This record gives sequence, structure tokens and C-alpha cells, in this order.
Amino acid sequence: MFDLLVKVKDNKKISPDLWVLSFDSEKLAQTIVPGQFLEFKVRNSTDPFLRRPFSVYKIKNNTIEILYEVVGEGTHLMSELQPGDTFLSLGPLGTTFTPQKNKKVIMVGGGVGAAPLVFLAQKQDFDSMMLGFRGESAVLPLSEAIGDDNKWVYATNDGSVGHKGFITQPLEELFKQEDSPENLFIYSCGPNPMLLEVARICQQYGVDGEVSLEERMGCGVGACLGCAVLTKSKGYVPSCKYGPVFNIQDLELDELKNSG
Ligand SMILES: Cc1cc2nc3c(=O)[nH]c(=O)nc-3n(C[C@H](O)[C@H](O)[C@H](O)COP(=O)(O)OP(=O)(O)OC[C@H]3O[C@@H](n4cnc5c(N)ncnc54)[C@H](O)[C@@H]3O)c2cc1C
Ligand code: FES
Repeated sequence: MFDLLVKVKDNKKISPDLWVLSFDSEKLAQTIVPGQFLEFKVRNSTDPFLRRPFSVYKIKNNTIEILYEVVGEGTHLMSELQPGDTFLSLGPLGTTFTPQKNKKVIMVGGGVGAAPLVFLAQKQDFDSMMLGFRGESAVLPLSEAIGDDNKWVYATNDGSVGHKGFITQPLEELFKQEDSPENLFIYSCGPNPMLLEVARICQQYGVDGEVSLEERMGCGVGACLGCAVLTKSKGYVPSCKYGPVFNIQDLELDELKNSG
């Protein structure tokens, strides 16, 4: 883990609600693994006091890309960064997705939860990338797709793009049509209600997988206990240190329901 002063290369809107910020770091590009995250301090003052956690979205050569949505003060400040501006990036932090060799891999994301899955898709073969968004303005443009874009399945709440409804509905259809669901492996990241539904379906069909949690974080290094989640194997653990990637079977889902 290292705290780097990085220089913004580009920072642009790729859709009405989504931004991509990029910076160069050979050190980070060569060490960070899908699932891990970075803690950014975008302004050199105590306001906003805490760092903000972000996943890596893509790495092209030594350029790191971050996909983000403006939801509050930290991300608003981030959207104002100009090429040449600098900020602090702490990481790589947290656990990684486990590579799969002999399973049929399905990735399921919601909103900016797509980011770590797209980075994973740069390294891991997959059969389907299933992404859910609240509406057209929040949809990740298909021009951003990694690999064959026929593998990308979209859902929006209002049906403006792709399936109308939640992405977990086409996911369940896929499970139903599969002769041997136990040969599937799910990687998922998104809001907790979506992860809960993914976990429920996986349990019902006997499918294994990993989820990356987007619990709110403070320190990002296990010191403040602000991101505790309940696991079956270890009880309460800080998600920033023992996660954000967890085995889908290890999470106490009822507890997750109360957060995020
Ligand atoms: C491991 C990890 C990886 C992440 N990766 C990304 C990413 O790649 N791209 C991205 O856009 N965001 C990502 N997030 C979420 C991102 O960290 C928050 O959106 C950001 O911290 C908000 O900061 P802010 O100051 O703009 O908003 P704040 O002022 O802190 O909050 C604004 C609003 O957003 C809500 N909010 C803040 N953080 C979260 C959260 N983690 N989950 C749900 N609601 C939240 C608050 O409740 C509030 O309503 C990630 C979070 C984690 C834990
Ligand atoms: S964010 Fe401080 S312990 Fe996880």
C-alpha cells in the first residue's frame, strides 16, 4: 500500500450521470488487482475530512481509470479536477476477486458497481456481463464494453435501455435455463438490495460467487470500524480490510439488509 500524489490526465463525462477520471501510475498499474480499491483525498485540506473509496475501472498501459457518479461533496470536488491537478491516492487496499478457470463466469453489477467488474473483465474470461441502472442517464455506454459486446446485458428500472426492471430478473432466467447451475460462478458489485437478491438467487440454485460491498468507509485501513459487516466465518469485520470482496455464502445477509 502506498500514498501517491497523482496527476489528473483526463476527467470527462461519458454519459449524463457518469464520469471517468484518469491518471498515470506505473507502480499502481502493476500492483493493483481486481476487487481492490483506492482511497482518494481530492482536496489538500480537512474539508472534506475523510478520504473517499473508489474501485479501479480500467487500466490501459499505465493509465488508471476511475468510473464515478457525483453524489455528494467529495465526488463533486472530484468532477472539478482538471488535467494537471494533483490529489492523493492511497492503495491498493482490500481483498481481491478470486480468478476462476473452469466455471462459467457471470458478472452482475448495479450502477457504478460496474466499475470493479469491468476491470475484472480485463483479466478474467466471462460469459455474461449483466448490468442494471436506474435509467438511461446512468447507463454505462456500450462503447465502454470490454470484449464481445453481445455478452453485455442491460436492465433499467423504466425499460429505457435493455430489460425493464431489475438485472436480477434476467439473471434468474439464465439460472433457470442452465442445466448445471453449479458450474456457474458469480461476481457481483452494486447496492445492497441488489446484492441481497443476487445472493438469494445463488443460494436457491446452488451457485457460488463473490460480492464486492460498497459499504461507506472512513479510514479504509481497518482503524475506525466504520465499515463493519457480519460474516459467518469471523463475526463482525471491517469491510475495508477483510473485504470489500467476500464469498457470497459467508455474509450474514439479514445484517447487510440494514446498511448501504
Ligand atoms: C470499496 C468501494 C469502492 C467504491 N467504488 C466506487 C466507484 O468506483 N465509483 C463510484 O462512483 N463510487 C464508488 N464507491 C462509492 C463512493 O465511495 C461514494 O460515492 C463516495 O464516497 C461519496 O462521496 P461524496 O463525498 O461525494 O458523498 P457523501 O457526501 O459522502 O454522500 C452523498 C450521498 O451518497 C451516499 N453514499 C456515500 N457513500 C456511499 C456508499 N459507499 N454507498 C452508498 N451510498 C453512499 C450518502 O449516504 C449520501 O446520501 C465505492 C465505495 C466503496 C466502499
Ligand atoms: S473504513 Fe475504517 S475500519 Fe473500514
